[in-house]
Amino acid sequence: MANTKSLRDFISEMTKLADQRLKEPTMLERAQPLMERLLSADDWLPSQFAEPDEQHYTQYLLHCDPLERFSLVSFVWGPGQKTPIHDHTVWGVIGVLRGAEVSQRYEWNDDALHPSGGSETLEAGAIDMVSPSIGDIHRVSNGLKSKPSVSIHLYGGNIGAINRHAFELNGSTKTFRSGYSSDVVPNIWTL
Ligand code: FE2
Repeated sequence: MANTKSLRDFISEMTKLADQRLKEPTMLERAQPLMERLLSADDWLPSQFAEPDEQHYTQYLLHCDPLERFSLVSFVWGPGQKTPIHDHTVWGVIGVLRGAEVSQRYEWNDDALHPSGGSETLEAGAIDMVSPSIGDIHRVSNGLKSKPSVSIHLYGGNIGAINRHAFELNGSTKTFRSGYSSDVVPNIWTL
């Protein structure tokens, strides 16, 4: 059985941070060590929230704050799986739990999207951040060719219910809501 105390402690500490109504830079600064601690041991994620799907990447909700101030999601990337180019519209802290994740950022130039720097490979334990103020548009893919990877994403809202955008390089834009891949969340109160 998964050691749910790590997840329970993370949610508890994040709830205390949310209660402080911190400005975004401070929230990101304070959330980062919590994510580092969560990633430091790989014994807490129940296996059903790390199951890959053959067709597409999966996003399992692990917790949503009842006031929708933050949510925590496990992303499971099968070989070759990737997101469209997309934004978030809220801050996000992205941590890799297993395997590796590749992130390519984009920026607007002349009504089209262009890669902003090279792609970045995040190995297990690494953390990346996004937000409208620090850069919010990227594409994420599995960094492993033949095995699944798992990353843990923390967002400043109920990310599955937020209207956000998927883009083509030519600038065409679609609004979407991602939802979640499962109807249940982990029981964080097992001993
Ligand atoms: Fe993203």
